[in-house]
Amino acid sequence: MVADLLLVHFNQVFCPKDPGHPLFGQEMKEAQVLEDGYIAVKDGKILTVGSGEPDPSLIGPETQVRSYEGKIASPGFVDCHTHLVYGGSREHEFAKKLAGVSYLDILAQGGGILSTVRATREASFENLYSKSKKLLDYMLLHGVTTVEAKSGYGLDWETEKRQLDVVAALDKDHQLDLVSTFMAAHATPPEYKGRNQDYLDLIVEEMLPKVKEEKLAEFCDIFCEQGVFSPEESRYLLSKAKELGFKLRIHADEIVSLGGVDVAAELGATSAEHLMMATDSGIAKMAQAQVIGNLLPATTFSLMEDTYAPARKMIESGMAITLATDSNPGSCPTANLQFVMQLGCFMMGLTPVEVLNAVTINAAYSVDRADKIGSFDPGKVADITILDAKNIDYPLYFFATNLTHQVYKAGKLVVDQGRILA
Ligand code: NIG
Ligand code: FE
Repeated sequence: MVADLLLVHFNQVFCPKDPGHPLFGQEMKEAQVLEDGYIAVKDGKILTVGSGEPDPSLIGPETQVRSYEGKIASPGFVDCHTHLVYGGSREHEFAKKLAGVSYLDILAQGGGILSTVRATREASFENLYSKSKKLLDYMLLHGVTTVEAKSGYGLDWETEKRQLDVVAALDKDHQLDLVSTFMAAHATPPEYKGRNQDYLDLIVEEMLPKVKEEKLAEFCDIFCEQGVFSPEESRYLLSKAKELGFKLRIHADEIVSLGGVDVAAELGATSAEHLMMATDSGIAKMAQAQVIGNLLPATTFSLMEDTYAPARKMIESGMAITLATDSNPGSCPTANLQFVMQLGCFMMGLTPVEVLNAVTINAAYSVDRADKIGSFDPGKVADITILDAKNIDYPLYFFATNLTHQVYKAGKLVVDQGRILA
């Protein structure tokens, strides 16, 4: 079949395997790496990939052929955990943080998430839209083509809905694709202080049904943490969400190991997030229940903690893991997934192949889009990230520098040498 677009002579093309499920444990160590690779695209989808000179039957009079010596290609990166939409920012808390005040203490003093809640409640749709669009632009410029985005800075219906509306609007308007998660259980709003159960009832009885009815989110998430929501409260909310047909995520074992992981395994959550303090028994339960571990090393970095999620142990225990930014104004103000990937190598001991699998095929499973993205299997959407790198090790080794050369979204060139094309 004739291709519309033929990208040839990449030094290497990283081709994750898609066995029909996330890559678990040892499977994460494997991938096909095509030397002198090419990618053929038709109608915005992958037609085929290969090595050396492409088969002449791929080339017709209309085929655009572009050459990429000295570059590598990967399926577009998927940032599968972000808190994209929020008002304000929190650099005013940075001095406290540098002085050693802990994240949970700042939150307990009414700052942290609650300070962003105040700013988000005051922000208009337009303000939230333009701030989030700017973040998405940064992400796209770093080679990300799909982003998961959570609500959770409203903690009341009006503002939570405004956040979700922004996600829906940007999914339509922006080159990037978005996947929406409802996370009203991110903290207890001030007006419900000391009344967690009443707030959860409000979410269950009033908010969740509306989110479902208006198709505002696919996933439901909760922050299971000391001083935030307990495992019992998380079980209550997530089981109700599951009954309504939501897919589940849970922020678990981020700062204190409380048992959120057990809830994830019990309810068959798609993923558990953070997991910095995951225990051996928690890891065994997640492996057994095939809960994906979404690991967020830039959060550990930004919280200035020493404990990174035990990624190696997770892989050796048979878990599927991903890496994501956790982009948010407090615990992780960044939009640079490449830096997160590098932390995966530097601080978690992952290999470049494991990292690339984590942000492509596994992250695609984590957002339930692996039928469309995450690998170069024929028929998948042609989301292609091209890096200025000689081989797939290079972008993990050469750190904290944006190496994106170009990005194709559904076969269309959307980033070229540091610029987003209209
Ligand atoms: O994933 N852990 C909870 N939520 C975010 C932080 C949000 C914030 O600090 O604003 C996180 O780290
Ligand atoms: Fe988070």
